Amino acid sequence: MSTPSAAPAQFYHLADLVRRRSGLRLTVDHGERIASKLQPVAARFGFRELGALLAELEDEPEELSRAVVEAMATHETSFFRDPQVFEFLRNTVLPQLMAARLVPRRLRIWCAAASTGQEAYSLAMLLDDAGLFAEGWKIDLFVSDFSRDAVMRITEGAYSAYELERGLPSPLRSRYCVPSESGRWHMVDGLRRRLRVHCFNLLDSLGWLGNLDLILCRNALFYFAPDVRLETLARLSGVLASDGWLILGTSETPVDARLYLPVAGAPRGIFSKNSALMRRAG
Ligand SMILES: C[S@@+](CC[C@H](N)C(=O)[O-])C[C@H]1O[C@@H](n2cnc3c(N)ncnc32)[C@H](O)[C@@H]1O
Repeated sequence: MSTPSAAPAQFYHLADLVRRRSGLRLTVDHGERIASKLQPVAARFGFRELGALLAELEDEPEELSRAVVEAMATHETSFFRDPQVFEFLRNTVLPQLMAARLVPRRLRIWCAAASTGQEAYSLAMLLDDAGLFAEGWKIDLFVSDFSRDAVMRITEGAYSAYELERGLPSPLRSRYCVPSESGRWHMVDGLRRRLRVHCFNLLDSLGWLGNLDLILCRNALFYFAPDVRLETLARLSGVLASDGWLILGTSETPVDARLYLPVAGAPRGIFSKNSALMRRAG
C-alpha cells in the first residue's frame, strides 16, 4: 500500500484478513484506494494514522477487523441497474418460473450482496407487477449483504432524490415511494414488508436458504479472489433448483461451464444450471 505508514508486511496481513473474512481480493495497486477507505475506520476507532490501525489489526480484534473488512467492499448500485436484465427477468424469467411453479404457487428468490437495497426493491416492484404478491402465491424474497450499514439501509428502505433518479422511473416512484420531511423517500410498507432482510456473508453456509428458484448475485463476486469466486459459485449452484436461474453482473461469468450455462438470447450475466452435472453443496 503506498501510504507512508504502511509496511508491506502489514499490507499482506490486511489482504489476507480481508480475503479470509470476505473473499475480496486486495492488490498493492489499490493502495491509495484502500488507504482512503481505511481513513474513516481509523477516525471511528480513534487511530491518528493508518500505520497504528494496521499494527492493531495484526491481533485481529473482532470489531476492528469487521469494520475494516466491510469498509473494503464497493457498494455501488442503483435501481434497475442494467435495465435489459430487468426486462429479461420481467419478460422471460418470471413467466417461465410462474409456469413451472403453478403447483404449489411458490417462488423462492435470493438477492445476495444487495448493497443498500435498490436492486432488491427493483425486483420486488417487478414481482408485484407480475401479480406475484397477490393472493395465491407464496413468495420468499431473501435479501442480504454482509455489510451491517448496507443491511440497515435495506431494512429502512429510504432513499435520497438523487438515488431515486438513478434508475427509478417516475411512475414507479409515485406508486412505491412516499416523501418524508427529511427530504428522503420511503418505500411503501407494502413493498418493504416483502423483503426478508439478512446480514449474511457469502462465505458462510447457505444451508438456511433451502432450494432457490432465482439467485441474483450481481457485481460482488467480480471483486473476489478467483478461487473463492469459483468455490462460492459452486455453493450457490448447490442451493439453486435444477431449472433455476442465476443472475450475475453483466461483466461476470460463472467460469465453470459444468455448473452454469449462458442462456441463449439473454443479456449478458444470465445463466441457468446444467442440471445433469449438478452436485449438492452449501
Ligand atoms: C457493488 S455492490 C453490488 C450491489 C448490487 N448487487 C448491484 O449489482 O447493484 C457489491 C456488494 O457486495 C457485498 N459483498 C462483498 N463481499 C461480500 C461477502 N463476502 N458476503 C456478502 N456480501 C458481500 C458488498 O457489501 C456490496 O454491498
